[in-house]
Amino acid sequence: MINILFAAKAERWPTYEAPLKQAFADLGLEVDLRQEFSPEEVDYIVYAPNSDVQDFTPYTRCKAVLNLWAGVEAITGNDTLTQPLARMVDSGLTEGMIEWVVGHVLRHHLGMDLHIRGQDGEWRSHVPPLARERRVTVLGLGELGMAAAEALAGLGFPVTGWSRRKKTLDKITALSGDEGLKQALEQADILVLLLPLTPGTENVIDTEALALMPQGAVIINPGRGPLIDDDALLAALDTGQIGHATLDVFRIEPLPRDHPFWAHPNVTVTPHIASETRPITSSQVIAENVRRGETGEPFLYLVDRGAGY
Ligand SMILES: NC(=O)c1ccc[n+]([C@@H]2O[C@H](COP(=O)([O-])OP(=O)(O)OC[C@H]3O[C@@H](n4cnc5c(N)ncnc54)[C@H](OP(=O)(O)O)[C@@H]3O)[C@@H](O)[C@H]2O)c1
Repeated sequence: MINILFAAKAERWPTYEAPLKQAFADLGLEVDLRQEFSPEEVDYIVYAPNSDVQDFTPYTRCKAVLNLWAGVEAITGNDTLTQPLARMVDSGLTEGMIEWVVGHVLRHHLGMDLHIRGQDGEWRSHVPPLARERRVTVLGLGELGMAAAEALAGLGFPVTGWSRRKKTLDKITALSGDEGLKQALEQADILVLLLPLTPGTENVIDTEALALMPQGAVIINPGRGPLIDDDALLAALDTGQIGHATLDVFRIEPLPRDHPFWAHPNVTVTPHIASETRPITSSQVIAENVRRGETGEPFLYLVDRGAGY
């Protein structure tokens, strides 16, 4: 019997219990899945970083911590965690992110607000340019950034991507390094942020970065709030250097009611809903990692603690 602790907020248990049990059964794994165990009995932890488990020291026989979230910044600095940590790569999460990013890019590209907000009797015959005439830059070419970049390229947008390690890609101009970032920003009529939050990415969008972007550019951030220097962004919105910012993630969540983003006419706030881990597909990923742990195969999607993601 494999003992698996479900360490997430209690309200997530009804959503995950059946899909996880099904996924373990489908792989022939005999599992005792519970929300409580004596720590020393636990073989794996299915984990959400906002759970009550913050000290991993007593989990002496735990073979891996399997994160339910794609973002791991809240756990990479936890020195009590010595076990392998896998982050969530979930096809359902990826699909959701593609849809959210494409939807918000198209909103700005097509100028949808003009007609949605402007039902005032005036016949505004504004014809938007074609996708191939609008340059999109995606910072972060991982599971989510790459999927979004490919979907946008598939629609005809000239897409530039930026990642830590240099990539060679067919339909996306792939850049890396400081000079690559500068070039990527200069071409960003629309900028999508899908970087993880690490010491190397915090405040990547600061005053200097904003000034490199084409005037009136749009920023779409479903990555993490601290990727952007908030004050620098507000200043750039006020001068018109940035035309609009659609923000899903924030330094403090929920975004405080008095934060200037809420009232700014050129900011759209969405409440960290760009995409969520989907119970059925993510449970299959977790079960596969438990199977691997039991057979001694390497775990999927291990976090590089040194790199921070
Ligand atoms: N808003 C939401 O609902 C939501 C939902 C899920 C995830 N997210 C956020 O999305 C982020 C990305 O997820 P993911 O699964 O795509 O992550 P991932 O697969 O780990 O990809 C991260 C990408 O960022 C690049 N990167 C990391 N550090 C960098 C640096 N210092 N300079 C340049 N590039 C750097 C990586 O480069 P390499 O390719 O060279 O490694 C990689 O391309 C998560 O960390 C999370 O914060 C948000």
